[in-house]
Amino acid sequence: TVLVVDFGAQYAQLIARRVREARVYSEIVPSTMPVSEILAKNPKAIILSGGPSSVYAENAPSLDRALFEAGVPVFGMCYGFQLMAQALGGTVDNTGSREYGRTDLSVSKPSSTLFEGTPAEQQVWMSHGDACSAAPEGFTVTASTSMVPVAAFENDELKLYGVQHHPEVMHSTYGQQVLEHFLYRGAGLAPSWTTTSIVDEQVEAIRERVGGKRAICGLSGGVDSAVAAALVNKAIGSQLTCVYVDHGLMRKGETEQVEKDFVAATGAQLRIVDASERFLDALAGVSDPEQKRKIIGREFIRVFEQAQAELVAEADEAGEDVAFLVQGTLYPDVVESGGGTGTANIKSHHNVGGLPEDIEFELIEPLRKLFKDEVRMVGQEVGLPDNIVQRQPFPGPGLGIRIVGEVTRERLDILREADAIAREELTAAGLDRDIWQCPVVLLADVRSVGVQGDGRTYGHPIVLRPVSSEDAMTADWSRLPYDVLARISTRITNEVSEVNRVTLDITSKPPGTIEWE
Ligand code: XMP
Repeated sequence: TVLVVDFGAQYAQLIARRVREARVYSEIVPSTMPVSEILAKNPKAIILSGGPSSVYAENAPSLDRALFEAGVPVFGMCYGFQLMAQALGGTVDNTGSREYGRTDLSVSKPSSTLFEGTPAEQQVWMSHGDACSAAPEGFTVTASTSMVPVAAFENDELKLYGVQHHPEVMHSTYGQQVLEHFLYRGAGLAPSWTTTSIVDEQVEAIRERVGGKRAICGLSGGVDSAVAAALVNKAIGSQLTCVYVDHGLMRKGETEQVEKDFVAATGAQLRIVDASERFLDALAGVSDPEQKRKIIGREFIRVFEQAQAELVAEADEAGEDVAFLVQGTLYPDVVESGGGTGTANIKSHHNVGGLPEDIEFELIEPLRKLFKDEVRMVGQEVGLPDNIVQRQPFPGPGLGIRIVGEVTRERLDILREADAIAREELTAAGLDRDIWQCPVVLLADVRSVGVQGDGRTYGHPIVLRPVSSEDAMTADWSRLPYDVLARISTRITNEVSEVNRVTLDITSKPPGTIEWE
């Protein structure tokens, strides 16, 4: 394991992902973890992330020198680089000026471990105030910029390396290569962490843990639960039952996708609970978004618990014990809930799949160490089709929060048709990978006048909300080609008779959220 020490910037997760892209397993630990504890984890290498602070700031996170004396290879980046310089006796000046954004880096030692084989001049991404003016004794300066005399250094004998820039971000052109040089050449690691090895390891661990007992997995129609279920199914097959609650708020074809494609690909046992009637009844007369969410979440838990109880009762009768519940928790959730330390700190997801507090099961979370892109690769490895693995995000409350106004069966049918057309055209235009997601929203309480054939119409508008994003925290509206927009608009207004107007949402996030409710 390579440990990434997180100094509180947003970069630690990105660094961990980049290390994994180099096929070396990595985990994140907080900078508050004592060095003795970090070393007790027996890391093969340690990376110090960037951070928001100056080493001179009050309460700036610091680092025990012992970290550099344990014989473990260390790579400091940005703030981590400065901490390293300071701890080892180099000079870090509080320059008062800042270097931010794309910067030219001059490599002064082309044969260095980190920079070998990369150009003498290369673009890197910088973000710092303080600057290192003298490397620690015994270190070789390997690069500089016009503002920073010591922009990188290394001590090959002690296996200590540092760069002032952020090699993990895309704008550092040779960043991945520099990182790989540290991992392979500096730390002597081999690129052996592969999707196959993840699957094999999980399958074995799950088999051992479950033994002869049974497990339940809730399927939501999303990527995470599908991959988690497929992985557990690969391990224990007939001892797993998947439960899918059809709340009637899914898009066209989605329930069938779970029913047919998922089952065909995995051979898993699946129970579909058709609860659409119940959800619609509970939603009748409600148009407040938060109230809708609460109702959908509440009903979902009730229906799932009921299905769960039935399964437990059946198993009881057959003399079997349902002891495990499978959850598709991902690594970012674990890190963000202060985890990564192995303690069970389960984040309550704001999903419809969110589980009751008092679960009497042990959790199996086979994706707990994985990032989203890795989950997709595992999904492919266990044989799930692209339409499941590459699925765009879709909110748990489904179309219930894409109808502005009361949710009724008729309105759901209208939205389902319009949404299916938009998705079909976006896919046909090859745009699925370019957009993060494209909510299609029905303004059910709004009507406008139109004309069709010889007649006046008085129909509803549909809003298209295509967005580009990295993580849904921020987003920009996608500049879709006009001809694609034109086709979507023409088809929706022709084929969905209740809709006579198609509009495009051109708001970024912030200020607009991705969903309308
Ligand atoms: P917003 O609308 O907050 O959405 O910009 C950010 C991302 O989260 C999804 N989303 C949800 N997902 N339950 C979910 O499971 C929800 O209640 C929910 N609300 C929004 C949204 O689709 C986007 O990807």
